[in-house]
Amino acid sequence: MKLTMIALAGLFILGGCQEATPPAAQEPVPTMSVNDLMVTVVTPATDTLWGIEDPQTDEDWQVFIDAADVVIEAGETIKVGGTGPNDNTWASDPAWDAFADRLIGAGVDARNAANNKDVEAMYTAGEVLYPPCEECHIQFHPGVQ
Ligand code: HEC
Repeated sequence: MKLTMIALAGLFILGGCQEATPPAAQEPVPTMSVNDLMVTVVTPATDTLWGIEDPQTDEDWQVFIDAADVVIEAGETIKVGGTGPNDNTWASDPAWDAFADRLIGAGVDARNAANNKDVEAMYTAGEVLYPPCEECHIQFHPGVQ
């Protein structure tokens, strides 16, 4: 009887744990190096955001919503690392994480601005977007413009 109670208690605890633990957030799995991500993903998306002129239609604005989403996704991937030789060392540095978070924050600003079709807010988001690029490059990859 005692043993049954203990076994039941164990089951209860296990069951309770499973319920209490939310499903793990989906971490992106990097499929390329940080450098490739910069060149093929980050740069085109940020060029789009920085190049905003005078979007009119929903389709025009969707381009900026998509570009902002790419920046956010890229930021999440940057935090995980990449397939390059130094990527995981970089990604384990708290300063790296902080730069990536600022990139993500600017991406979120840009996404909100695009959702609201607010060109002024897009410019502001674009201004917030640039410093983390420059500062992260100075710290982790001196020489990159
Ligand atoms: C978290 C740090 C970090 C942030 C934020 C970051 N970069 Fe980078 N970037 C790097 C590192 C590190 C490299 C070099 C990677 C390597 O050499 O393996 C790099 C390389 C690049 C390259 C390639 C340069 C070359 O010489 O080939 C470009 C382009 C680039 N980044 C653009 C950007 C832009 C634009 C932003 C902002 C929108 C940005 N990066 C934000 C860390 C960062």
